[in-house]
Amino acid sequence: LNKVYKLNTGASMPAIGLGTWKAAPGEVEAAVKTAIAAGYRHIDTAFGYGNEAEVGKAIREALAENGLERKDIFVTTKIWPTFFRPEKVSEGFKISLDRLDIEYIDLILLHWPVGLNPEQGVAIPRLPDGTRDIDTTVTPSITWTALEKVFEENKDKLKAIGVSNHPIPILEELLKTAKVVPAVNQVELHPYNPQQKLLDYCNSKNIHVTAYSPLGSTDSILLSDEIVGKIATAHNKSPAQIVLSWGLSRSSILPKSVNAERVKANADLIELSAEETQQINELHKTHGKRFVRPDWGVKVFDEEFE
Ligand code: A2P
Repeated sequence: LNKVYKLNTGASMPAIGLGTWKAAPGEVEAAVKTAIAAGYRHIDTAFGYGNEAEVGKAIREALAENGLERKDIFVTTKIWPTFFRPEKVSEGFKISLDRLDIEYIDLILLHWPVGLNPEQGVAIPRLPDGTRDIDTTVTPSITWTALEKVFEENKDKLKAIGVSNHPIPILEELLKTAKVVPAVNQVELHPYNPQQKLLDYCNSKNIHVTAYSPLGSTDSILLSDEIVGKIATAHNKSPAQIVLSWGLSRSSILPKSVNAERVKANADLIELSAEETQQINELHKTHGKRFVRPDWGVKVFDEEFE
């Protein structure tokens, strides 16, 4: 839990954060409090998860209960694609800060590399044929430029900016016009989808990679993988702890759990041997799988599991 990664802003980001996607209001508060009491110093949320207000409240209370200060905790949130028009980016940031109510945000990310039409007034606007109502007036570069401005104008309330779910071609495009290099690219990453090429690319550009769904998301087949199971038995750990130990050696990780025992267990990790790491590195070749793949109607994902 003490491991940190340095961002290109100079800030230190705790390498293990609590993921809160699908952690519903009503259960997320207890999970955040358990995590902070257990030593987690990084909490990840998003406007799109619909739980920022509760996450923020839990953080404020947990800081007070554990004798901690605001600066002791790193909080990441994400701007939803209906706020991607340049004139709406600032509103997206302000809504999140308002809901979280925690003085400032350590890191805010553009949640997806695609904008959604804000005019329907819903989170996922759809066209009559059922496909997503993409906002064709924006590109990742346009929105990024607007976010840079928000960052510049709110240095006391926003400490770093980054992206999420951005593949290499879109990052290349974005970097052509970027004045600020994204501090982070948060993507789905686990042994069945190790994203080695993207990781290497981001490292070469000084963009830190954070793994979401590091356990392979809900009902994960990854946790019943035979090789992972064997390594777990050998160390007297759970498959989840082995998968997370592998993840922590490559990037920061955001395991999600609303169960107190699992929240604690997910931060009790080990060093794997080179041979074990290699065995896990091989798994994607036979079991390549992306668990989170909403249909954007435009190309977002690489289909290789390299
Ligand atoms: P729960 O919240 O009930 O613990 P990911 O982080 O890859 O998105 O995975 C989250 C999923 O894995 C959730 O369904 C979560 O359920 C479950 N999970 C979290 N920690 C563990 C663990 N240590 N062992 C098994 N399942 C876990």
